[in-house]
Amino acid sequence: MPRSFRLAPSILSADFARLGEEVRAVEAAGADLIHFDVMDNHYVPNLTIGPLVCEAVRPHVSIPIDVHLMVRPVDRIIPDFARAGANLITFHPEASEHVDRSLQLIRDSGCKAGLVFNPATPLHYLDHVMDKLDIILLMSVNPGFGGQKFIASTLPKIRAVRDRIDAHVAAGGQPIWLEVDGGVKIDNVAEVARAGADTFVAGSAVFGARGADGGYDEVIRRFREALAGV
Ligand code: DX5
Ligand code: ZN
Repeated sequence: MPRSFRLAPSILSADFARLGEEVRAVEAAGADLIHFDVMDNHYVPNLTIGPLVCEAVRPHVSIPIDVHLMVRPVDRIIPDFARAGANLITFHPEASEHVDRSLQLIRDSGCKAGLVFNPATPLHYLDHVMDKLDIILLMSVNPGFGGQKFIASTLPKIRAVRDRIDAHVAAGGQPIWLEVDGGVKIDNVAEVARAGADTFVAGSAVFGARGADGGYDEVIRRFREALAGV
């Protein structure tokens, strides 16, 4: 059965002065999720947006909001995002003192839960929590900024996680999405999908089309076209 693919534009590259309009435009263009990058100038060297902005964006879209926490500590902020309308919440395991507890807290708050792996973060964090995951997010750049180059060593890592998810599901486990974030473009998304990803974050590749011919409709159509060949 062909995997279903999801495209998650990252609003890190949107026009922050017109966020409502920007998220409405990408939903209308066919986006499946809104990827929401939360940076704290502590876990990563940049500072972005928090629960207040999530709450402000929420009424503008009906698709799920995919909150990517690049913060330390993790737990304090989870219920705030759940109340602000987040649907998925992911965090970096090395930023949490108690990974299992943080995952449980996300699910108890009514959201889907996931772990994020930096390019050099080992996969052993998955070992004892597969049943607590709805999504695994692999970073294909070091977190902190949009517009960076895709790190090629992510491809074998995607394959390794795909194998682990498939084995988990074959043994009766729940489905787990496999999302990739960083440097994903129209010209490499098919390769990322072939490696085993089903959910693609694209920041600069989508919002970079602002004002261009065809705008977001055209760029999202071309992403779909590239994925249709996988
Ligand atoms: C980076 C963020 C990404 C970023 C991706 O730390 O997690 O979501 O917005 O941007 P692009 O697609 O431009 O690499
Ligand atoms: Zn992200």
